[in-house]
Amino acid sequence: MDDRALDRDVEGLLTMPIEWDASARQLHLRNDQVSYLIRVLEDGSIGQLHFGAPLADGRSYRHLGRAGFQGFTNRLDDPIALEYPTAGGGDFRMPALVVEQADGSSSLRLEYASHRIFPGKASIDGLPSTYAESAGEATSVEIELVDRPSGVQVALSYTIFRDAPIVARHVRIRNGGSARLRVTTAMSASLDLPDDAWTLVQLSGAWARERHVTDRRLAPGRQSTASLRGASGHEHDPSLILRRPTTTETSGEAYGLSLVYSGNFLAEAEVGLYGTTRARLGINPEGFAWTLEPGADFNTPEAVLAWSNDGLDGLSAAYHGLYRERLARGSWRDRPRPVLINNWEGTYFAFDEQKLVDIATVARDLGIELFVLDDGWFGARDDDTSSLGDWVVDRRKLPNGIDGLGRRIEDLGMRFGLWIEPEMVSEKSQLFAAHPDWAIGVAGRPRTESRQQLVLDLSRPEIVDHLFTVISEVLASAPISYVKWDMNRNITEPASLALPAERQGEFFHRYILGLYDLYGRLTGAFPEILFESCAGGGGRFDPGMLAYAPQAWTSDDTDAIERLRIQWGASLLYPTSSMGAHVSAVPNHQTGRRTPIATRAAVAFFGVFGYELDATSLSGAERAEVADQVAFYKDHRELVQRGRFVRLRSPFEGDGNETAWMSVSDDRRQAVVGFYQTLTRPNPGVNRLRLRELDPSARYRITLWPARADTVERDNALVRGGDELTEVGLFLDVDRHEVANHGDYWAQLFILRAE
Ligand code: GLA
Repeated sequence: MDDRALDRDVEGLLTMPIEWDASARQLHLRNDQVSYLIRVLEDGSIGQLHFGAPLADGRSYRHLGRAGFQGFTNRLDDPIALEYPTAGGGDFRMPALVVEQADGSSSLRLEYASHRIFPGKASIDGLPSTYAESAGEATSVEIELVDRPSGVQVALSYTIFRDAPIVARHVRIRNGGSARLRVTTAMSASLDLPDDAWTLVQLSGAWARERHVTDRRLAPGRQSTASLRGASGHEHDPSLILRRPTTTETSGEAYGLSLVYSGNFLAEAEVGLYGTTRARLGINPEGFAWTLEPGADFNTPEAVLAWSNDGLDGLSAAYHGLYRERLARGSWRDRPRPVLINNWEGTYFAFDEQKLVDIATVARDLGIELFVLDDGWFGARDDDTSSLGDWVVDRRKLPNGIDGLGRRIEDLGMRFGLWIEPEMVSEKSQLFAAHPDWAIGVAGRPRTESRQQLVLDLSRPEIVDHLFTVISEVLASAPISYVKWDMNRNITEPASLALPAERQGEFFHRYILGLYDLYGRLTGAFPEILFESCAGGGGRFDPGMLAYAPQAWTSDDTDAIERLRIQWGASLLYPTSSMGAHVSAVPNHQTGRRTPIATRAAVAFFGVFGYELDATSLSGAERAEVADQVAFYKDHRELVQRGRFVRLRSPFEGDGNETAWMSVSDDRRQAVVGFYQTLTRPNPGVNRLRLRELDPSARYRITLWPARADTVERDNALVRGGDELTEVGLFLDVDRHEVANHGDYWAQLFILRAE
C-alpha cells in the first residue's frame, strides 16, 4: 500500500482533505473552496506550489514548482517559492526563521524529515488558536524539518477546515542539538506569490479612529505594518490583506493573513527583484530573541490564511464564520449577547450607589438587560491618578460593596457587570507600595508614565498568580455576569527583573504568555461570565483576545459617524458578534458632534448593542426612542449577531458621504439593511441601493425603521422580489427634495422578511 492509500485508509474517506503523493513528494490540502499545495524539493526544502483556487485531487503538481534551491543553475536570487524561508542560503528575501547558533552564525537550511497527517486540529501550548469541535471539521498535517549542522528542528503545522477557504498555520522550533540557540525571527507564516500585481490592504488608525481601511499598491522592496507597543495596538491590526488592484467587494482575488496574537507583531510584504511577492506575518523580530536550551521548544502564534475569488466579501465571510464559531469559545459564544448600559460616559468617576441604581432603574424600564459599572469603583479612585492594583471596593462610593450594588441591580431584574484593568498599577496604590518591583521598568532608569499608570510584569508567574487570586476574589464576591477587561497603556522600558540579561529579548512575548495564562485561568474559573476585552477602545482588538473574550470594545469613539468607518474596517476580518457598539449622549464626547439618537442606534445595531450614557438625563421623548431601539435590537439581534454581514457602500470610497451594509440570516428569510448619509446635499441625484445575499426567488416584505410618513417609506415599504432588490435595489432617490430635507446624519434601516 503506498502512503497515499494508507492515509486514505486511516482517514476512512474517499477524498482526503490532505493528500500525500509519495512519488511527487507533494502534500495537497484541499476542500471545495481552496487548495494549498506544497512539495519536498530535490534539495529537501519545502516548496510552495499553490495557494488559491481548488485544484483537482489525485494529481501531481510538482511541475508547478522549481526543482529546488540548490539543484538548478546555482544562480543566487532565484525566486523560488518556499514554505519557510531561512537566511544565509542565497534567498535574499525576507526570512521566516533566523536562529543564531553557538558560533554566532545564523545560516540555516531546513530539510524535510517526515510528516504526519491527522484528523482534527491540535492546540498550541500556551497560545490561543482556532479549533475544530469534531475530527471531521478539519484535517491537519505536521511537517518535520531539520537543519543538521545546528540541530534546529522545525515543525510546520497546517490545518485545513472542511467548510472554509482557510488554512491555519503555526510553527514549533526545537533545539535538537547540544548547544544553546537563539531564535531571533520566527514567523508564523510566509507566503510566496508568483507576481507583484497586488494592493496591500491594512486596517490602520489611532485611538478613536481604529481600523480605517488603507490601500497601497505594492512596490519593489518591503512594506509593512507592525507593533512594538507590547499590544497589537490602535495603530494597525495584526493582519495583512492582499487583493488584486481590480478586486472589488464582490469579485476578484484576495488573500488574508491574520495573526492570532495580541502583542508585538510584524505584517510585511516584499516585492523581490524578479517581481514576486513574499508576505510574512508573526511576532515582530525587532527586540525579540528567544533562547532555546537543548531539547527546548518555541511555538509561534497561529496565522490564519484565507483566499477568496469573491472579493473582500468572500474573505470576510470566511473569517467571520471561523472567528465567531471556532476561535471564540465558551458559554457565551453562541448565546445572544445582552443589551447593556455602561456608566463610563454617563458619570466618569463621579458616582455613588444610588446614582448607579437610578441609571439602572431607568435602563431596566427601557428594556436594557445588563448594567456595567466601569472604572472608579475600587481603591480611592476619583480620577485616573491612583488605585489601579487595589481591587478592593471603595466604600465611600459603594457602602454596601460590589455585592450590595450587584444585588440591587439583580433585584431590578438586570444582570450586573464590572470593569477591571488587572494588568496595571498606579504609583499611588497599596500594591505599588508593597511591590514597587512588580511594575515593568529598568533598574536605574525612570519609568515613562502614561495615564499616570504603570504596567505589571505579567512575564512573572508570581504576579499572574497574584492577579488570578485577587481578581477571582472580586468576581466571586458578587453576582457578576459580565467583565470588561481594560488595558489602557502600552509598555515602555520593556524588561523584566526576573529575566537574565541574555533573555530580555523574551520579555514582550513572555508578557503575552502571562496575559493569556491569566485570561485562560479566569475565563476557565468563571465560565458563566461574559468577558469583553478593551484597550482604550480598540487598542488590543485582535484574534488572540477573541479566543478568551467573545466581544471587544471596538473603539472609545462612540460618535455614530466615526463608527461607520471603524465598524466597516473591523468588519473586514471580525464578526459583528465581536464588536461592542454603544449609543452615547450628544454632543459626542470624542467629536462634539450632534447626531440624531436614531442614527446613533442605527449604527450601533450592527454590533453588540448597548448604551454609554446617564439614562436618568434622557428626556421623555428620548426614553420612548430608546425603549423602541432596545425592542428593535432584541427582535433582530440573532440576525445581526449571527447572520451574514454584507458591506454595500464604503465610507472609504469616493467622498465617503454614504455608507450602507446589511445583515442577512443564514436561511436568507430575513435581512436588515442600514443606509447612512453623513451630510445632506441639496437636489441629490439618482440613488439606488442594490442588496446582496438575498434569495432571488423569495418575496420580501419591507418595513422601515424608523418609520417615516414620506415617499421613502411609500416607495420602499412594499413586497418585492429578492431578484429585483439585488438587480434594481432600494430607492433612496424617491423625492429628491424630501431626501435633501432629511438633514445631516440621516440613517435609515430597511427590514426585509420573506413572505
Ligand atoms: C478606557 C476604556 C473606556 C473606559 C475607560 C475607563 O479608556 O476604553 O471605555 O473604560 O478606560 O478608565
